[in-house]
Amino acid sequence: MRRLLAVFPVLLCVLLGAPAGVGAAAHEVTYDRYSLKVDGERLVLQSAEFHYFRLPSPELWRDVLEKLRAAGFNAVSIYFSWAYHSPKPGVYDFTGVRDVDRLLRTARQAGLYVIARPGPYINAESTGGGLPAWVKTVPGRARSSAPGYQAAYREWLHRINPIIARHQVTGGGPVILYNAENEYQVNTDAAYMQDIQDQARADGIDVPITTNDCCDAGSWSSTWATGPGAVQIPGVDDYPQSFECATPEVWGPWGEGLTERLRDDIPVFAAEYQAGAIDLGDAGYDKCRELTGPAYMKYFYKNNLVTTGATMFSYYMGYGGTNWGWLAQPNDVYTSYDYGAAITEARQLTPKYDEFKRQGYFLEAVAPLAKTDAVTSPATPDNPTLTTTARANPDTGTQFVLVKHADRAATGTDDATLDWAAPDGRHWVPVRVKGRDAHVLVAGYDLGGQRLVLSTSEIMTHALIGGRDVALLYGTAGSPGATILRYGSRPVVKVLEGDVRAEYTGGDLRLDYTHDGLARVLVTGGGRRPLLLLLGTDETAAGFWRAETGAGPVLVRGTELVRSASASGDTLRLAADTAGGQVEVFAGPATRRLRIGAEDVPVTRTPSGSLLGATRAPEPVRLPALTAWRSRAEAPEAAPGFDDSRWTAADHTTTISPHQPKTLPVLYADDYGYHYGNVWYRGHFTATGSETRIDLNAVTGLRGNYLVWLNGRYLGSAAGGVEADSGDASTPPNPDPGPGHFEVPAGVLRPGADNVISVLVANMGHNDDWIADDLRFKQPRGLVAATVGGAVGGTPISWRIQGSPGTDPLRGPLNNGGLYGERTGWHLPTYPDKSWKTPSAELAPGVTWLRTAFRLDLPKGQDAPVGLRFGGDPSPAYRVQVFLNGWNVGQYGGDIGPQRDFVLPAGILDEHGTNTIALAVTAEQPVAGPGPLSLFTYGNVRGSR
Ligand code: GAL
Repeated sequence: MRRLLAVFPVLLCVLLGAPAGVGAAAHEVTYDRYSLKVDGERLVLQSAEFHYFRLPSPELWRDVLEKLRAAGFNAVSIYFSWAYHSPKPGVYDFTGVRDVDRLLRTARQAGLYVIARPGPYINAESTGGGLPAWVKTVPGRARSSAPGYQAAYREWLHRINPIIARHQVTGGGPVILYNAENEYQVNTDAAYMQDIQDQARADGIDVPITTNDCCDAGSWSSTWATGPGAVQIPGVDDYPQSFECATPEVWGPWGEGLTERLRDDIPVFAAEYQAGAIDLGDAGYDKCRELTGPAYMKYFYKNNLVTTGATMFSYYMGYGGTNWGWLAQPNDVYTSYDYGAAITEARQLTPKYDEFKRQGYFLEAVAPLAKTDAVTSPATPDNPTLTTTARANPDTGTQFVLVKHADRAATGTDDATLDWAAPDGRHWVPVRVKGRDAHVLVAGYDLGGQRLVLSTSEIMTHALIGGRDVALLYGTAGSPGATILRYGSRPVVKVLEGDVRAEYTGGDLRLDYTHDGLARVLVTGGGRRPLLLLLGTDETAAGFWRAETGAGPVLVRGTELVRSASASGDTLRLAADTAGGQVEVFAGPATRRLRIGAEDVPVTRTPSGSLLGATRAPEPVRLPALTAWRSRAEAPEAAPGFDDSRWTAADHTTTISPHQPKTLPVLYADDYGYHYGNVWYRGHFTATGSETRIDLNAVTGLRGNYLVWLNGRYLGSAAGGVEADSGDASTPPNPDPGPGHFEVPAGVLRPGADNVISVLVANMGHNDDWIADDLRFKQPRGLVAATVGGAVGGTPISWRIQGSPGTDPLRGPLNNGGLYGERTGWHLPTYPDKSWKTPSAELAPGVTWLRTAFRLDLPKGQDAPVGLRFGGDPSPAYRVQVFLNGWNVGQYGGDIGPQRDFVLPAGILDEHGTNTIALAVTAEQPVAGPGPLSLFTYGNVRGSR
């Protein structure tokens, strides 16, 4: 075992709460080849990824984190986005939606450890891969130890590290691991990798440092295992289903996804294991959820658990969230980053959540899983279509047998008898595998006060409740199950519900049954404390929630969620979400009353000893229609007389970008400090009268465009390019359309006088820097070439540029670009729009704003997330930025992506007041505007969000 903290004095003290270690006192983190340990106690780390920067509503962080904890996760993995906090060098903001102290406090309160991942590079399909766009103007290759970049990233680390440091497990906080960089390839720059760690240590980070290796490579484990740059616990990222959401039936195109053991002295760490997908083909996230649904989770996660013996898992993503503002990296994602995750963007629980819960509760309840070695399978199926793999705990002998189809592609249902040499004897038991199901079966396990010889049902959880063991086992509906328990003498078996046959011979009580609904068996006597055995199906088992109280654990079913429970006197209090219907609680006999939220729930005692009551249905939610739209056209910048004298002169003749401009001056928006959203250019030239054409080229990132005016006359639009890709196979496609040619129409030129070209260029976000080659990342945004053709000797143009000042203190630097309306506050709820007109049926080319307000008064004590829906078909001729109360909550349009529904998160949305929606519509040609628009709810529960 490596004593990580030898140089860091730590206080050891009593473990508090659940999971062990997430409490106010200081703890020690160590590890060996099997698992992490907190204060010497082994831990199976079950983490899911969450990005606070994709949920700009801190009050909802608690909801998501509590939902993760309620599924059995004991940790959350969090990227910290440098770009989100830093609009320019030396300027950092950790307030409001960027308050990561609050985030880490909330994680601790939710009972979750934190894997802190501050990069500096994070990828994550976020703009610049988390690097602020201003880093594009810093000399020296990003993600290297080049001095310019080094000064920049150290600045970030010295801001973020101290925050993380004060929330470490070693000081009583939740941070248990620190992840350096992201999928940083070996042989890139070891000194850089080492420096990140040195900075972290200097800033007080004393928990183990990890990194996530890309693509099965294990690169930090091998050559540089102990050299400069090596981390303590490298892990591996695996995305076996790839990202082709349109074809969810394609199974494991990227292989079995087995997380490799990287070193003998550390646990196997699945640092990012696929739990959803980016929607590469615009198939929609429901398809991504299908691609990575329960069948995938059963097959791949269980295979990974038993085949490699991993005890550290982090699933990417647990909750995806929203690319609000200009947060998205332009090539792979659109506004929604739902990711097909277990918890949807609108915070709804899905069947994937149920599967996480089944597996998560198992990992949490069955302690021998934290220390296992691969063993020859003790269980042989008599049907060759099925196969088994096994591990065993070397101390307890507990066996874990994975049963699945031998052929990964098999979709049929197969039965077999397992000939199982279990630690307590040899048995023949039935098993069934349906399609891509995979079961982890347990033998030789001290289940509370019971001895489980073996079971062909899977264990979901078990708990000592009121002096008896309550065990919840489950199997596929309709499949046969057998559970064998060992007793010193014949026990009394009472089948309370369901069809279960019991037979006692030679110390073994064998129960045979078919998984169907929820069977209940009470076993007493036999020299052990009583056992209530609950035998469910996947579905009925998933209906259970487990929570810890000061008086011990409780199980609850019939609620939509249980966040926490507490017991005092004869009353059990639940913080739970409910949607009406029966609720059943398994608590000790002292518990006679139930209170959910602020309501008493009358209960009666059942033959199982549980309490049964009913919850009320939530009040229906009524949402107003969106009417009374007002409209105003903008783009005064297009008019020749517009005063641009205060705009920034774009007159640089050099740039540090690895991509040189095709014409001078340099017109790259970043070089003038305009990093996010739209930018305007105005180019002045004195015409001779013989000018015939304007040739422009703009680089915008995928789905970007630009619009061009000459002396106020609209000349048209062109698609922006993504040129200057590095040529690596992993780079985005290169649909660079080449320069846009615009003919000068007759009668528009003003010979001998000032002529003005106005260009509105979209910046769809910054490329990531996944392969750390700088070429993609430093790809410019804005105009890269501009000439006026036709006049002898060429036409000099003098340029000015205007973009977002990026100074909104509340919403941050990524909220706005440089549209006139944005610069003037048309998106803000307080903007006086009384003088605005009724929208016309057709929008003119350019930018038109539409605004309306609506009042909400949602039922108190309920959670009914609201969305905005664009009806009708979007046109590729327009793109819409959607502002809710000034917050840029998304982009919509025929060329933007498949998204029609936009989440309006509570917090930004006033659920009990007036809200303003403002749409900035950029049209490339005369077109009917978007719509009709309506509000809708994603769900409705009573609850304690
Ligand atoms: C990983 C990367 C993550 C994310 C993921 C795909 O390679 O580390 O940040 O980009 O791929 O969603």
